[in-house]
Amino acid sequence: MTRLLLAGATGLVGDITLQQALASPRVQQVVAPTRRPLPAHPKLLNPIVDFDALPDDADWWRVDAVACALGTTIRDAGSQDAFRRVDHDYPLAIARRAHTHGATTFALVSAKGAAAGSRIFYSRVKGEVEEELAGIGFASLTLLRPGLLGGERRQQRAGEGLALRVFGALDAVLPASYRIVPAQRVAAALLQAALDAPPGRHVIPSEQLLR
Ligand SMILES: NC(=O)c1ccc[n+]([C@@H]2O[C@H](COP(=O)([O-])OP(=O)(O)OC[C@H]3O[C@@H](n4cnc5c(N)ncnc54)[C@H](OP(=O)(O)O)[C@@H]3O)[C@@H](O)[C@H]2O)c1
Repeated sequence: MTRLLLAGATGLVGDITLQQALASPRVQQVVAPTRRPLPAHPKLLNPIVDFDALPDDADWWRVDAVACALGTTIRDAGSQDAFRRVDHDYPLAIARRAHTHGATTFALVSAKGAAAGSRIFYSRVKGEVEEELAGIGFASLTLLRPGLLGGERRQQRAGEGLALRVFGALDAVLPASYRIVPAQRVAAALLQAALDAPPGRHVIPSEQLLR
């Protein structure tokens, strides 16, 4: 049975991952630090935190595995720096603390195109966080790289709504790597990676998340 730390449990992928983890007989407890409270559940520990001031040695960092679905957009964050804080600094801060307290497995929702050398800021940040995570020393590190996510978002994003309609209409003719990936599939793959803990570093491309 796994003690799982889930970051981003209030988001589209994170919420589905949370429901799957709470329902899984393989999960003993979910530790889900958030900035706003989640509905109570007997298997859930929900520390309310300021991600800019995460505690260094709270007991709840003692988990087996971490699943991270944190993220924002440059538009929502307000600046490139603020975006980088959420998509780069917070996952690394969580990873380092959990690793120090014994976690051996980390699974991250990254993004298609992630590459530290990319000229696209978003892809570069995702690539950098992937590379720095690889340097921490987890026995198992899984990096999921979905393309555009499909699913019921509480607040639809303007540009994303349009992209989803266009890509949705073209779905049958697009190469698999450009197809919309259901958030449900990403959540299932994230949880599976965290629980199975395959040894080494694994990158899961978008087309593999469709299956
Ligand atoms: N959307 C796409 O099409 C797409 C495509 C490829 C990859 N991805 C990546 O997939 C991951 C998950 O995406 P998603 O659409 O499920 O994300 P989402 O619904 O926007 O949820 C993001 C999560 O991050 C948290 N978060 C955002 N800003 C925060 C802040 N300043 N401080 C603390 N927590 C913060 C949110 O918490 P609150 O609820 O408190 O805001 C939420 O739990 C992200 O890393 C994203 O980059 C997305």
